[in-house]
Amino acid sequence: MKKTLKIATIGGGSSYTPELIEGFINRYDELPISELWLVDVEEGREKLEIVGALAKRMVEKAGVPIEIHLAMDREEALNDADFVTTQFRVGRLEARMLDESIPLKYDVIGQETNGPGGLFKGLRTIPVILDICRDIERLCPDAWLVNFTNPAGMVTEAVLRYSNITKVVGLCNGPIGIEKGIAKELGVDTSRIYVEFAGLNHMVFAKNVYLDGKNVTPTVMEKMTKNEDGISLKNIADVGWDPLFLNTLGMVPIGYLRYYYQTSIMLAEQKAAVAKEGTRAEVVKRVETELFELYKNLDLAEKPKQLEQRGGAYYSEAACNLIHSIYNDKRDIQTVNTRNNGAVAGIDPDSAVEVNCVITSQGPIPLTTGPLPIAVNGLVQSIKSFERLAAEAAVTGDYNTALLAMTINPLVPSDEVAHQLLDELLEAHQAYLPQFNK
Ligand code: G6P
Repeated sequence: MKKTLKIATIGGGSSYTPELIEGFINRYDELPISELWLVDVEEGREKLEIVGALAKRMVEKAGVPIEIHLAMDREEALNDADFVTTQFRVGRLEARMLDESIPLKYDVIGQETNGPGGLFKGLRTIPVILDICRDIERLCPDAWLVNFTNPAGMVTEAVLRYSNITKVVGLCNGPIGIEKGIAKELGVDTSRIYVEFAGLNHMVFAKNVYLDGKNVTPTVMEKMTKNEDGISLKNIADVGWDPLFLNTLGMVPIGYLRYYYQTSIMLAEQKAAVAKEGTRAEVVKRVETELFELYKNLDLAEKPKQLEQRGGAYYSEAACNLIHSIYNDKRDIQTVNTRNNGAVAGIDPDSAVEVNCVITSQGPIPLTTGPLPIAVNGLVQSIKSFERLAAEAAVTGDYNTALLAMTINPLVPSDEVAHQLLDELLEAHQAYLPQFNK
């Protein structure tokens, strides 16, 4: 085992970076990071410098010898890195705003990882991540790629299918959030529960919950239907679930499932929210302005509480736990996006799934969970087909493949609307989709 570690974080100027730094500081004894390289593009220089300076103050205050490097040159940062984390947003929040607002004109959900917005975020992101993969192959072939960049499931799928990198893990804060929410509902510490997750990223279900080894799923469902679910993410409106539906389903769905099971309520809610406060991208922009003002304060040397206004709570916990377990060959169980390899029966073994895995120094070993219940299998398969077509379109820049992906997405009502949406979004995002402008 190497005694010191080099980590490169691409999209290092993100407002989430202090989360990551805090996580690394807290685990320093078992995760001896000597160098952390925060990398960003020219447009992100100012943010990188502000957040980088805060990161330096944080490690100094904590008294840990992590050297923080800021770089605009990805190659230098990747050279001999042990872990590469990716958290970038192609086109920044302006592009997200288009993904969230244009579909609404067609009475379609406008969301950054679901429906037409998710498709376009994938089309913009996948060529960039594949480029990073080529650099990893050349500059740090033994490194693990830990991706949080959304749509994380589609991105993991694309890396598995279209790059030579096999050491890749896609991460989401969603399962940790659900686990904590369930523990809260049960009034117990998370260490006493085991939650069996299965599905795809942003389409995952807590299939079974065990408390001290006893299956307590019915109790959890009952509590969830009685109370406010308490398991919502900050970025998704908590409109409650129909108790009969949820009890019959018998599993805890991630909040993103609301877009599929409660489409009309969520659409109305989105329209009202946009009229009142703008799209989520605009809300996040305001939060970011506030955060970066705080980050500039030279007296600040810790993660400010205000970061909790973002949807990515616990994301550093997910990231740091994963890196820690790979590095220390911990063999604990975490929920990550990885090659299915037969764990979820009925889903292509080569596809990415979000599932519980044993985390070893060889990476995640997915735990067999059997087939998905019939009630959700169809939707999950549809989304997997959508993700595969989207990834193919992102790589080839083929209009027809993109149209197919858009049309089969369950949130898009017809081929006609799919066509119109595709054309309008292609035009709006032209600057970040060179593969379609050949
Ligand atoms: C959730 C999701 C993340 C997503 C985030 C958005 O936590 O799991 O994948 O990035 O929300 O939060 P934001 O504050 O950007 O709307």
